[in-house]
Amino acid sequence: MRVIRTVGELRVWSREARKAGLEVGLVPTMGALHEGHISLVRAAKASCGVVAASIFVNPTQFGPNEDFAKYPRTFEADCALLEAEGVDVVFAPAAEEMYPAGASTFVEVEGLSDRLDGKSRPGHFRGVATVVAKLFIAAEPDRAYFGQKDAAQVAVLRRMVADLLLPVELVVCPIVREPDGLAMSSRNRYLSTEERRQALVLSRALDAVEAVAAVAAVGERSAEVLIAVARANIADEPAVRVDYIAAVDWATLEPVPEAGPGTLFAVAAWVGRTRLIDNFVL
Ligand code: PAJ
Repeated sequence: MRVIRTVGELRVWSREARKAGLEVGLVPTMGALHEGHISLVRAAKASCGVVAASIFVNPTQFGPNEDFAKYPRTFEADCALLEAEGVDVVFAPAAEEMYPAGASTFVEVEGLSDRLDGKSRPGHFRGVATVVAKLFIAAEPDRAYFGQKDAAQVAVLRRMVADLLLPVELVVCPIVREPDGLAMSSRNRYLSTEERRQALVLSRALDAVEAVAAVAAVGERSAEVLIAVARANIADEPAVRVDYIAAVDWATLEPVPEAGPGTLFAVAAWVGRTRLIDNFVL
């Protein structure tokens, strides 16, 4: 497995693979890898001739009071995991490589970027869209792999790819969970034992909503009622503070009055000082 640090080398590698008739898969990450990330790598390996994973803690997607400085950085362990999965290239650029001195060009997906996590984290999706566009320009992948875990991110990136006519196919992979239901996240390692227990209320609340919504023809469809079900469940853990609970169209992230097939039901909440997200799609 090769570790590449510069855009120039990554592009040469990708173009040579394509010349050899191989399709290029890209798995963008910020490292601190877990089984959720690895599921994306496996999906990429299953359908691409060569696979690159990027590890870059992207400064522009963190707000001034967020966890950029303390975000877990576990590069050696990440490389060992990726190598064991047969990844061909790890792209791990320095910040100056992705943001040359004086960089002042950003990708703004208007509207979508201000909804859900974008509402609570102003500027977050501008940073995500910008870095992912740069990764696409650098790696020129045929396919790029993202997790449904970050469902709003998927909506923003789908819009960006369509709007900028980018020649890449986005592949979205299901949420990987711990055996007890907690959605895997690099931020789970911030949780104390007690917070880890409290955090389970998110997946439990979503299960409750899904159960109420899914009773075949008689299932409850009112978004207001479903949101109330989630809120009541999360109230079981008074220490957990809801940021948002929303039923939205997954493409536009606009609230829907009635949940239906394709509706994204998403939650974000603070458990102590850690913000966690989870969702399901009806
Ligand atoms: P990061 O949080 O490291 O996540 C990298 C990818 O792994 C994302 O597509 C995310 O949705 C996916 N992922 C995380 N947890 C998952 C889980 N439990 N199940 C399935 N997939 C999961 O998302 C980012 O990094 C950044 O915003 C990035 C796209 C790399 C841009 O900086």
